[in-house]
Amino acid sequence: MRRGTWLLLFAIGCAGSQSVLDPAGPPNRSLNHLFWAMLIVASVIWIAVVVAAFWAALSRRRITREDLEPIITVPNEEHRRHTGIVTGLVGATIVILLLFLVYDFTVGRALAERPSRTLTIEIIGHQWWWEVHYVDPDPSKIVVDANELHIPAGEPVQVKLSSRDVIHSFWVPNLIGKRDLIPGYTSSLFLNADRAGVYRAQCAEFCGTEHAKMALPVVVHSRNDFAAWLSEARAPAAVPNDSSARDGRQVFLAGPCSSCHAITGEPAYGTVGPNLTHLASRKTLGAGTLPNTRGNLGGWVVDPQSIKPGVRMPSNQLAAKDLRNLLDYLQTLK
Ligand code: CUA
Repeated sequence: MRRGTWLLLFAIGCAGSQSVLDPAGPPNRSLNHLFWAMLIVASVIWIAVVVAAFWAALSRRRITREDLEPIITVPNEEHRRHTGIVTGLVGATIVILLLFLVYDFTVGRALAERPSRTLTIEIIGHQWWWEVHYVDPDPSKIVVDANELHIPAGEPVQVKLSSRDVIHSFWVPNLIGKRDLIPGYTSSLFLNADRAGVYRAQCAEFCGTEHAKMALPVVVHSRNDFAAWLSEARAPAAVPNDSSARDGRQVFLAGPCSSCHAITGEPAYGTVGPNLTHLASRKTLGAGTLPNTRGNLGGWVVDPQSIKPGVRMPSNQLAAKDLRNLLDYLQTLK
């Protein structure tokens, strides 16, 4: 693995491995039980078949015409025994397949079942980033964020998925299987994590040149921590006290930044790029591309094309002082 990848996983603080076989919630756990049951039963059958094939090949009993004659004409005792074995094994195959069919349907139904009370989060796929809305009946409480998903542990969360451009696919290996994000169509799934931690989600459908750099850290909080996080996230951005950050705010609002990016509470309403209200509290930049450090942020603002070639964000030639002030400002956006 490249050094950058290690640094990134460290920056995200992933809990364990990004693996389907390391379930962190009930949906993936039931899928794992189904997978292991199928794997174990299929392995036992496969081993039995291979052993039988070797035994038949090695027993080297030559079959003569006299051996076959009575079978063709009158079935003898040995023939009846063999027929019994074959019939039994065919029956066993049918029973095993039926049992797995029922088990598979049961797991599928449980995954699709609508829990009684859920938090709803909308995720909109873009080339190549994730827009995340924490829905609330009170419009003033809706939180718009990007490139990071926060959910409470021990509580099902409904995730509604759609896309603004091409087909993407939402996949959190530790929590749930893949689900496509399709333009003009909203699909939905229920996420349920039972242990707090950070899990890495990844776009799992080729969606253009930067498909590989379309990751999404999923932060699972304890219930209380999540409530605290959500109420903090509802707060709009404040005008900074620091003079350089205030100058940086002017650079942001007067320059091209605000035509593509929104900051809640500021006259910046762009929706082409990610909402930046909570940029400084994110773990990564460029949808899981770089750890979110001041140096990386500066490099990203000046020349995103060299970091994520093809990304919609253009290069920005800023005077050194403006860049410093802008970074001071962006780092206040907690
Ligand atoms: Cu989005 Cu691949």
